[in-house]
Amino acid sequence: MARILTGIQSSGKPHLGNILGAIEPSIKLSNKKENESLFFIADLHSLINIKDSKIRHKNTLSIAAAWIAMGFDYENNYFYRQSKITEVCELTWYLNCFTPYPMLVNSHSFKDKSNNLSSVNNGLFTYPVLMASDILLYDADIVPVGKDQKQHLEITRDIAKSFNHQFGNTLIIPDCKIDENVMTIPGTDGRKMSKTYNNTIDVFLEEKDLKKQIMSIITDSKGLEESKNAEKCNVYKIYNLIAKKDQSDKMKNKYLSGGYGYGHAKNELLELILDKYKDQRKMYFDLIKNEDYLHNVLKLGEKKAKVIANNVLSRVKKKLGY
Ligand code: TRP
Repeated sequence: MARILTGIQSSGKPHLGNILGAIEPSIKLSNKKENESLFFIADLHSLINIKDSKIRHKNTLSIAAAWIAMGFDYENNYFYRQSKITEVCELTWYLNCFTPYPMLVNSHSFKDKSNNLSSVNNGLFTYPVLMASDILLYDADIVPVGKDQKQHLEITRDIAKSFNHQFGNTLIIPDCKIDENVMTIPGTDGRKMSKTYNNTIDVFLEEKDLKKQIMSIITDSKGLEESKNAEKCNVYKIYNLIAKKDQSDKMKNKYLSGGYGYGHAKNELLELILDKYKDQRKMYFDLIKNEDYLHNVLKLGEKKAKVIANNVLSRVKKKLGY
């Protein structure tokens, strides 16, 4: 049995890019019988940027609601808040002492912001060590992540190897699973869909706000009657990612034949999203009103996760002589 583990950034409601790029593939992986999955909400990492606990709680609940609504089988797997298993902080300290300083200086998460050092807190600097603890604390075998996290996984492996080298086999060296085919989902402005660019399509938004986002997708200024190139249009590109092949082909032909405007295409995209995610949206809106339920789901996961964490932490402490 392979133990799959991944952390979910708690930066808010998941958008279409998160759904297609992370949630759906992860859930698919977790549904394989031979796997056991640990998915957690990285609400300690988020303290690096988010100091307002109300926002953090809200983000945590929307992530929990979204993953459950998308079908994550939390009962047969593990679903928890990183912050509730405080053992992770203890392990982080131990691992800090096995982490060469230059490795952190060279980590992208820090390096990308190091031109403005006064805005960097030490949490950002040691981000990769907490991430290593997230993984090593649960004896994870496989960590599926996006390309941007590859370096963090290498750091995790290096830290674990360094520990094992000094104390004998203690920590499981995880494999990184980077899905090379993972699609880059274009946002409303054609750049990669990301909260940072404010170009997201939020599937779990009330219909009228969702419509606003879709209507804001940037297109060229071709008139209604003109023939259009679907492949170059952001509306079609997004539609094509979620539509069935015959639906996509149909839309493509309409673009080509003229008399079909971008407004029409946007409406079709909205209809498709509302239809495709109808059940999930309903479940999300029900769940988000039911905080107790969400808390109980997470508590259940935390109880189970804590057992693994305690086990691994004892192993580490014994080796260290604590
Ligand atoms: N750093 C990851 C991201 O930004 C989130 C994360 C935190 C994570 N801890 C992890 C991912 C452990 C995988 C394993 O997406």
